Amino acid sequence: MPDRAALITGASRGIGLAIAQALGADGYKLTLTARKPATLEAAAAQLSGKGYEVQQFAANLNDEDSIKAVVNAHREAYGRLDVLVNNGGVGVGAAAHEHQTKFIDMQLDVNLRAMILLYRETLDMLKAAGAEHGSAQVVNLASIAGKNPQPWLSVYSATKAAVVAYTVAMNKELNGEGIKSVALCPGFVDTDMTDFAKDSVAPEDMIQPDDIASAVRFVLSLSKAVVIPEIIFQRPGETL
Ligand SMILES: NC(=O)c1ccc[n+]([C@@H]2O[C@H](COP(=O)([O-])OP(=O)(O)OC[C@H]3O[C@@H](n4cnc5c(N)ncnc54)[C@H](OP(=O)(O)O)[C@@H]3O)[C@@H](O)[C@H]2O)c1
Repeated sequence: MPDRAALITGASRGIGLAIAQALGADGYKLTLTARKPATLEAAAAQLSGKGYEVQQFAANLNDEDSIKAVVNAHREAYGRLDVLVNNGGVGVGAAAHEHQTKFIDMQLDVNLRAMILLYRETLDMLKAAGAEHGSAQVVNLASIAGKNPQPWLSVYSATKAAVVAYTVAMNKELNGEGIKSVALCPGFVDTDMTDFAKDSVAPEDMIQPDDIASAVRFVLSLSKAVVIPEIIFQRPGETL
């Protein structure tokens, strides 16, 4: 494996941790970030215990200065960025007449604004990787709710539809510089985020975090001549 590095948000558990595990196993140097230091530290210890090169940096994705600090820590440690995984996200359900402003803002900031800021702050490193090997990759965790917006999860759905739209725009804007973007759009994945649904859908019937990690590996295995703009993950019987 040539020198490669990845930055993963929301990497302390769930889908982000599964992607970090896969990239670490494939030889990427990793920066893991999430909000709560204790969970993040445990995740980093788990991966470094496997011999992967890992650094952790706790940050709240709703804070621009913290995002800049994460990127600077990554730049100082590794000096390059080949894969950016915009995974950290939150969902808060509410009826249209009940949305609390703080939860609207939180979902917009963490799910959408942070992704836009992370592109901006890492673009110099992504462009350098794109110029070097033609396959710098940004992985954006959208959701099936971004393709088929859901009642009561309306704000979440709108942020995820925006993630899909931004991914399309980034491909149009940056493919020429060797930077590809993919929007991953899963249905229920067996993580903490879906605990609310586990009375009606058994965890083993949900998409597994490793399924998402396998898709990231697939995307990264392709030549520079192909871009995968979007992957939809449905459970059997599910339709858009
Ligand atoms: N699970 C699903 O069914 C599903 C389906 C479709 C899409 N997705 C998307 O996939 C992504 C990962 O979901 P998941 O199921 O793995 O969620 P999860 O298990 O709840 O993990 C969320 C991760 O994001 C971090 N995070 C949350 N708020 C943050 C903030 N303000 N600042 C920094 N980090 C923050 C969490 O760290 P802390 O705990 O430290 O905050 C954690 O590492 C999300 O974008 C989600 O919307 C999930």
